[in-house]
Amino acid sequence: MIEVKNIKKSFDGRVVIEDVSAQMKAGQCNLIIGASGSGKTVLQKCIVGLFEPDSGEVLYSGQDFTAMRGEEKTAIRKEIGMLFQGSALFDSLNVEENIMFPLSMFTHDPLKKKLDRVNEVLNRVNLDGVNKKFPAELSGGMKKRVALARAIVLNPKYLFCDEPNSGLDPQTSLVIDKLIKEITIEFNMTTVVNTHDMNSVMEIGDYILYMYQGRKEWEGSKRDIIFSKNERLNSFIFASEFLQDAKDMRMLEETGRIPNHRNMDALIGKGAPPPDLG
Ligand SMILES: Nc1ncnc2c1ncn2[C@@H]1O[C@H](COP(=O)(O)OP(=O)(O)OP(=O)(O)O)[C@@H](O)[C@H]1O
Ligand SMILES: [Mg+2]
Repeated sequence: MIEVKNIKKSFDGRVVIEDVSAQMKAGQCNLIIGASGSGKTVLQKCIVGLFEPDSGEVLYSGQDFTAMRGEEKTAIRKEIGMLFQGSALFDSLNVEENIMFPLSMFTHDPLKKKLDRVNEVLNRVNLDGVNKKFPAELSGGMKKRVALARAIVLNPKYLFCDEPNSGLDPQTSLVIDKLIKEITIEFNMTTVVNTHDMNSVMEIGDYILYMYQGRKEWEGSKRDIIFSKNERLNSFIFASEFLQDAKDMRMLEETGRIPNHRNMDALIGKGAPPPDLG
């Protein structure tokens, strides 16, 4: 579990994260969502310690990470896996060498043991046998899976992913999302995902933190989103009229009610007859 308590961060006197608190539990996908520039990446970087917050605390399994120094901090860092935006693979290293990199940095394991672990995680992301390929020879989805394999190779307790679906088609995005979700449950990791992708929100969002201009505007589960009356959240998630109708249909199914302001007849198809499309 990761607890974020009253985090504040400014750059050159400009407040970018304002008093954000959250509880991110183990075994679930915790999503940070929000418009571009709302502070998702800065918040994630404050949580992993790449930025030092101006004030507030970040607790990893109850331990105050923000107050730690030296070896204590390194010990927590070893338990953190990161999937960077754009995958950030080393172009001059092949897949096997890329995934082995953290093992060589943080362990003294013999080569055979490291290779076995590389093959284990490659198998876990359904990429057996691509060991000798270079990043340039991989598709976008394969690169993300290699980056995910590298992020989990040290068996992290905490997994951070910044925009894991950027640049992928909807179906490949779903494969990555499902993999992140499965791995999270399998290893009981506390997973934190920054995303713009509304499919991801509805697919894997156990806990969702919605950022608006550096503040926590809303938090809840994907189910709570269906019933939320927060206008900023609704116009962000259900940006089109089509999606707003889909939300209302879901609410109708679940509760027999839809919000008063919506047109019930149009929604359930009793309006004008459909056009004759020939
Ligand atoms: N290193 C930095 N120095 C100064 N300002 C920064 C720095 N990093 C981010 N910011 C500012 O902080 C704000 C939040 O940026 P952030 O990258 O967290 O947004 P985001 O929600 O991740 O956006 P996106 O969806 O585009 O990735 C922006 O106004 C940005 O200009
Ligand atoms: Mg970002």
